[in-house]
Amino acid sequence: MTTQPKTLISEQAIAEKVAGLGAQISRDYAGVDSLMLVGVLKGSFIFLADLSRRLTIPHTVDFIALSSYGNATTRATGEVRLMMDLRTTIAGKHVLIVEDIVDTGHTLDYLMRLLGAREPASLKACALVRKPDRREVDVELSYIGFDIPNKWVVGYGLDFADKFRTLPYIGYVDDARAS
Ligand code: IMP
Repeated sequence: MTTQPKTLISEQAIAEKVAGLGAQISRDYAGVDSLMLVGVLKGSFIFLADLSRRLTIPHTVDFIALSSYGNATTRATGEVRLMMDLRTTIAGKHVLIVEDIVDTGHTLDYLMRLLGAREPASLKACALVRKPDRREVDVELSYIGFDIPNKWVVGYGLDFADKFRTLPYIGYVDDARAS
């Protein structure tokens, strides 16, 4: 695949949305000692970097890595496995999961259950993009950047077979997956 992805969400629109989310999260958690951001690798690393720098409240950052099984690019079985755990404990902490994308919802559902069992003071989730038409599991998202159509999107951390992650915008490639 050599064609350049077409723009779905511009760099400017992303920057404005991330600033808005940062302001909203800062307001909602005002008064909390510290907020722990949990970035889901690899896709959320750019979103997390930008979002965290928009927060005006005390916060820390940790990462977790999950693997979705199935096709290497569509990852469409709904089977999720923990590949790398957090380095810190979350019991008694206010935790916000930072996801790049919610597609079927299986990954976030797994993560909410996994981290919820560790008794955080609160647990919420934020995702930059969501594909409502693909939803298979109902999982609550407290903060959402954009609802998008059912296309395979790349850029701003998102990949297709590990390509296009560092594009500054979110784009799509026709025929990126067969569904
Ligand atoms: P889920 O279906 O919500 O569990 O999402 C599984 C994972 O598939 C996400 O965390 C992403 O890593 C990946 N994914 C789903 N849709 C896309 C896409 O359009 N572009 C890039 N990655 C995606």
